[in-house]
Amino acid sequence: MIEKFEKKLWLSSPTMHGEEQEFVKLAFDTNWVSTLGENINKLEENICDYLGCDYAVGLSSGTSSLHLAVKLAGVKPGDTVFCSDLTFSASVNPVTYEGGIPVFIDSEYETWNMDPAALERAFEKYPDTKVVIVVNLYGTPAKLDEIRSICDKHGAIMIEDAAESLGATYKGVMTGTFGAYNAISFNGNKIITCSTGGMLVTNDKAAADTARKWSTQSREKAPWYQHVDTGYNYRMSNIIAGIGRGQMLHIDEHIAGKKRVFEAYKEGFKDLPVTMNPYLDNSEPNFWLSCILINKDALCEQTRGEYKAEFISGDGKSCPTEIFEQLLKYNAEGRPIWKPMHMQPIFKDNDFITAVDGVDVSADIFERGLCLPSDIKMTEEEQQRVIEIVKSCF
Ligand SMILES: Cc1ncc(COP(=O)(O)O)c(C=O)c1O
Repeated sequence: MIEKFEKKLWLSSPTMHGEEQEFVKLAFDTNWVSTLGENINKLEENICDYLGCDYAVGLSSGTSSLHLAVKLAGVKPGDTVFCSDLTFSASVNPVTYEGGIPVFIDSEYETWNMDPAALERAFEKYPDTKVVIVVNLYGTPAKLDEIRSICDKHGAIMIEDAAESLGATYKGVMTGTFGAYNAISFNGNKIITCSTGGMLVTNDKAAADTARKWSTQSREKAPWYQHVDTGYNYRMSNIIAGIGRGQMLHIDEHIAGKKRVFEAYKEGFKDLPVTMNPYLDNSEPNFWLSCILINKDALCEQTRGEYKAEFISGDGKSCPTEIFEQLLKYNAEGRPIWKPMHMQPIFKDNDFITAVDGVDVSADIFERGLCLPSDIKMTEEEQQRVIEIVKSCF
């Protein structure tokens, strides 16, 4: 019999170390508790050193970072913007804040990210598109070179949504540096957290200066409050930046922990009809979330409406809903794969481009995939129990 978890086993909860509090205390001790101070400056420096980029602008969230990236890229009302389809809606909402029209690009099976072949087709249909937002899902780098060269060929600006992939590399280069403008997130469940927060990353000084100005209400350099552009209250606080400074001391340890979790699942599931979320040989993910994809012939009947799912469990077969519910019964948190944007009621009128007509890869990954508890504080014994729970579903 598998024992229920006494304490909830989380998908990915914050892992704190103690140094965070010292940097927060510094903010209090010096009374720099607002949106200026040493913690912000140092965290921006830490991120630039870590990523190998020139400028990082500390902001209130990954979403605000993407919003300013979209503005920097010059998206105007009515402009089409190509967006990864299989992602969290925060990747896409900033486009609509600016009146842009997201066109969703299907995933490929090798990384679950934007398919370059589908992107090429999208440019055939919408040749005037000038901005592409590519996501590195669950910490796995997309086919970044292919996507960037397609963008270059069509004169489009690439924005990288690296909210989930801080510390992941593609061909030895850190994700979050491939786009003209890039966004990272320090949300509570990410590889490191500031409690909330994000950063805009770029090598363009003028862009970084503009983002800084926009994020602090767009004040001009004048003796009074002078405004030329719309302003935002998006700047990071010096208190949360202190948490980030403490977390940066442990980022490599977090990534190593996530990789251990991923490898243990891979080993534990080797006799099950499932595969783990895949990545390319030229990439090293940060393994933020470990996910499984159930083989097509091992998927039991599952129907998902807008708000409810049902399934009929079969011998030797299972489905994400069954595993999710089973985990919950044992007090462990799973999560469905992001429901693709083209399947969301809010985007029902937006176009969706696949590489091959009628072959919808992101819907298939949503149908057969599930995120598993990936918390680095999970013990080996606890993870073995998760593996047994998953096995018991087949
Ligand atoms: C892919 C992706 N993009 C953007 C965001 C938004 O980041 P934040 O929550 O910091 O606003 C998140 C996560 O929350 C995300 O997973």
